[in-house]
Amino acid sequence: MTYPPVLPDGWTLVALQSVGSTNDEAARLAAAGAAEGTVVWAREQTAGRGRRGRHWASPVGNLYTSAIVRPDCPAARAAELGFVAALAVADMVPAGRPVRLKWPNDVLVEGAKVAGILPESSIGADGQAEHVILGIGVNVGFAPELPEMRYPGACLGGTVEIALETLAAALAQRLARWRRDGFEPVRAEWLAKAGPLGLEVDVKLGEELVRGRFAGMDREGALLLDTAAGPRRIVAGELLARAA
Ligand code: BTN
Repeated sequence: MTYPPVLPDGWTLVALQSVGSTNDEAARLAAAGAAEGTVVWAREQTAGRGRRGRHWASPVGNLYTSAIVRPDCPAARAAELGFVAALAVADMVPAGRPVRLKWPNDVLVEGAKVAGILPESSIGADGQAEHVILGIGVNVGFAPELPEMRYPGACLGGTVEIALETLAAALAQRLARWRRDGFEPVRAEWLAKAGPLGLEVDVKLGEELVRGRFAGMDREGALLLDTAAGPRRIVAGELLARAA
């Protein structure tokens, strides 16, 4: 075990015992001028946040971290980074354990959620993304219950220190590739790791539940669904396994 965890060259670790949310701390540092590659890591969060305003249970034992990215891209492209982060988390999963990506940014191992990603962007007056906070929670030591997901939880095992080192290394590589090659290879790789086309799914859009078959993801990162009423393009929603 290395302590403190070693991050890629040029990256900076802000290690905390306890914080409300690492995303909030990273956003505060980004607003104060912190550079890309600043990584906030806390052993526990007292107000961990998930997508769609949900609580993210964050006791000691799992990984809670937020990386500052300064993508210098139009706001519309900022969402691409959530998929970059999902691929970086998938890189952490040891070979031999089947990994699946679930739109938009969940990572499943052996069918169970192992990580959640909360990307949060700050958009400038010029329409450019000033910074994106990639908030990543990985189940390392234990798998909390996630009743709202219709998925059980899974955990990676190992230590949070090694998980953080592995994640940061993968993220640095994936970000460099995204900058060099754009979103298309990210989309292709994400699709290759996503559920099979034609899979029956439910998508929660507020109070509405849309039933359909998974038909892929488009070049803007929107979910494509074939429904009984025709094709649908979904930019925000919750993809759920079909209830039995
Ligand atoms: C999800 O709903 O699946 C996303 C969960 C994201 C949780 C991580 S833990 C580190 C960072 N800080 C937060 O408050 N949330 C994210």
